[in-house]
Amino acid sequence: MAILVTGGAGYIGSHTVVELLEQNYQVVVVDNLYNSQIEVLDRIEEITGKKVKFYQIDILDKAAMTQVFAENEIEAVIHFASYKAVGESVIKPLMYYHNNIEGTVALLEVMNHAGVKDIVFSSSATVYGEDNPSPLKESMPTDTANNPYGYTKVVIEHLLQDLAKADSEWSVTLLRYFNPIGAHESGRIGENPNGIPNNLMPYITQVAIGKLPELSVFGQDYQTHDGTGVRDYIHVVDLAKGHIKALEKNKEQLGVKVYNLGTGIGFSVLDLVKAFQTVNHIEIPYRLAPRRPGDIDICFADASKAKEELNWQTEKTLEDMCRDSWNWQSQNPKGYCE
Ligand code: NAD
Ligand code: UD1
Repeated sequence: MAILVTGGAGYIGSHTVVELLEQNYQVVVVDNLYNSQIEVLDRIEEITGKKVKFYQIDILDKAAMTQVFAENEIEAVIHFASYKAVGESVIKPLMYYHNNIEGTVALLEVMNHAGVKDIVFSSSATVYGEDNPSPLKESMPTDTANNPYGYTKVVIEHLLQDLAKADSEWSVTLLRYFNPIGAHESGRIGENPNGIPNNLMPYITQVAIGKLPELSVFGQDYQTHDGTGVRDYIHVVDLAKGHIKALEKNKEQLGVKVYNLGTGIGFSVLDLVKAFQTVNHIEIPYRLAPRRPGDIDICFADASKAKEELNWQTEKTLEDMCRDSWNWQSQNPKGYCE
């Protein structure tokens, strides 16, 4: 029996595939390589000494996906495949609704047909919107996302809830990720954004490597300890391990389960910059810039539910995240294009 990982060549998917292989799961990866490179599969094999069965397929291609289920004994699916750039989703909403929502509907139809009713879904803290106060709890309302990307997550969460309500054989876990950063400690896999990064950590590592001149710190008048935005940064390897716990949970309990995957601790932009500088002995030039539209003051998890029900909690520190992000970037200055 194997776990099908959609989007398994991407940033979080590749780290999760490594953890699955290390825990002796068989893995089948489906990815159209829209936002990833084939090289990542060799790197996964290098780290684990194990081969991954790979299909370069779009999840919207139902015939090809049906074939994957026919050729493999799939017991469960971890569904990462999605577009994820918030700004782009505002400019190209149809592209996002089509790929993320229709892609998920197509996947669920194929799964239903194959009788595989076990799924772990990549949701996001973005579903909590702007109005809920941190620490964010799974029971808080989640219908106020403020951009099309966020809405695709809200809609897919609803879709999976409705599916499980209609058919009690479905086992669904919705994982709401906070801010994943870091990389595998080997430095062989990591985040490889296209173009100029939008997110803080890849921006910092590209400043550190000299690709970008300086960091802009967006906003200094937030209601936080130093005025800069506070987020719950989580090491991608801790996050990956949470998916194994979710698979186990799906086996023991049918229906829908929802968990935050975060550390429960908020750090500011300047906390992160300082930690990066101290751990890696590199100065990060930065300038104070206006707020970025759409950003909120503070966002961090109440991580207690995942601890109690999944027996999962983060193990890595902010320093580990800074060290591993830099280890990946410095070893792979051009990402996978070496
Ligand atoms: P990523 O872009 O690195 O990985 C997504 C992968 O899916 C890519 O390899 C891409 O080629 C593939 N893909 C996209 N559309 C596809 C399609 N139609 N068919 C087949 N493959 C397709 O992104 P990531 O950071 O690894 O994120 C994984 C998941 O986690 C996404 O669903 C994302 O929305 C969610 N998420 C990410 C973050 C984050 O900060 N990275 C935060 C919260 C939630
Ligand atoms: C962003 C997405 C969110 C997604 C999350 C996952 C937006 C508006 N939100 O969240 O939907 O779920 O990524 O990773 O894009 N910052 C700077 N300078 C920079 C970049 C960021 O100061 O060059 C600050 C931001 O203002 C914020 C913090 O760093 O306070 C983190 O930003 P980022 O990494 O982009 O994540 P989020 O905004 O939390």
